[in-house]
Amino acid sequence: MNIDGIPTRTLRAHPAQNCIDIIDQTRLPHALHWARVATLEEAAHAIRAMQVRGAPLIGATAAYGLAIALEFEASDTRLHEAASLLRSTRPTAVNLHWALARMESVLQPLAPEARHQAAWQEAQAIADEDVAQNAAIGQHGLKLWKDLIVANGHTLNVMTHCNAGWLATVDHGTALSPIYAAHDAGVPVHVWVSETRPRNQGLLTAWELEHHGVPHTLIADNAAGLLMRQGRVDAVIVGADRVAANGDVANKVGTYLKALAAADNGIPFYVAAPRSTIDFACADGADIPIEERDGDEFRLVHGLDHHGQPSALRQLPAGEDVANPAFDVTPGWLVKGIITERGVCSASRDGLLGLYPEEAR
Ligand code: MRU
Repeated sequence: MNIDGIPTRTLRAHPAQNCIDIIDQTRLPHALHWARVATLEEAAHAIRAMQVRGAPLIGATAAYGLAIALEFEASDTRLHEAASLLRSTRPTAVNLHWALARMESVLQPLAPEARHQAAWQEAQAIADEDVAQNAAIGQHGLKLWKDLIVANGHTLNVMTHCNAGWLATVDHGTALSPIYAAHDAGVPVHVWVSETRPRNQGLLTAWELEHHGVPHTLIADNAAGLLMRQGRVDAVIVGADRVAANGDVANKVGTYLKALAAADNGIPFYVAAPRSTIDFACADGADIPIEERDGDEFRLVHGLDHHGQPSALRQLPAGEDVANPAFDVTPGWLVKGIITERGVCSASRDGLLGLYPEEAR
């Protein structure tokens, strides 16, 4: 993605200094602040506190975090303990678990003294693959838009939820990749961005669309159904944190409601996700662990105060009982298609195995 015309990735790796720089997403959209991650604990904290977030970016950060952890000691014990700590940070996005399993399977057979350098190489490969796969998702999605534009004959109005853009990946994004591809190809596109309470990741989406020059409008989550019913939405596209083997999709809480409204209004509902988000070992969406986050994410509202300083405002008493599930599961039958780096398939076991026949057991 471009920031002020300069192509930028969300992660900067510095293997010689054994650290990475990340964009601290808790400071956005008010400040673009790069933070240094130089220890295992800092990597785990960055993921847990959502300084980095979004399934593919969490995976890449965890891979680098493991590489960072092995600088002075790379014994079996250190490898296992570091991977366990990183794995414990967030449960739903399978990319985290996928990336750590991949790192361990590469590193485990090596002699400890060879592991540190190999870990950096593998983390870099994971990051580079993420960029390539998301770019491919963009091109596959672009074909879908072109068909919709021919049918509609006007600017394409696409709705998205949460942030499944550049910020949620190493580059391009998943759900936003086809939108960037369309915009860059001169296809007229406008994005309805839902706020995504309580963490407001929609503000991140608006921020990155703004920096890339894509027309967009922020809406409160509850406005989505009305806009669909008024005929002002041509398609909905979201990312995913885990796609089960049967095509059920876990994504940011509120996704399911959008899928229901889209179905009721005959609007195609697409999910964009790379291979690292598909969990063939998880048979059914009901088996996906749903992260329950701290209730203060709901009780407090974050923004800038009158002096332009980051500030939190209490909207609920500390003792107020709240539930804060971070994700929900949309059944595959509500999903028109899953867009992966290999193409578009139905959200079903047959559809996924059609694209990934090597996963058939
Ligand atoms: O809790 P978050 O902000 O990490 O959740 C992110 C999402 O739900 C995204 O939609 C998903 O990870 C897809 S990212 C390309």
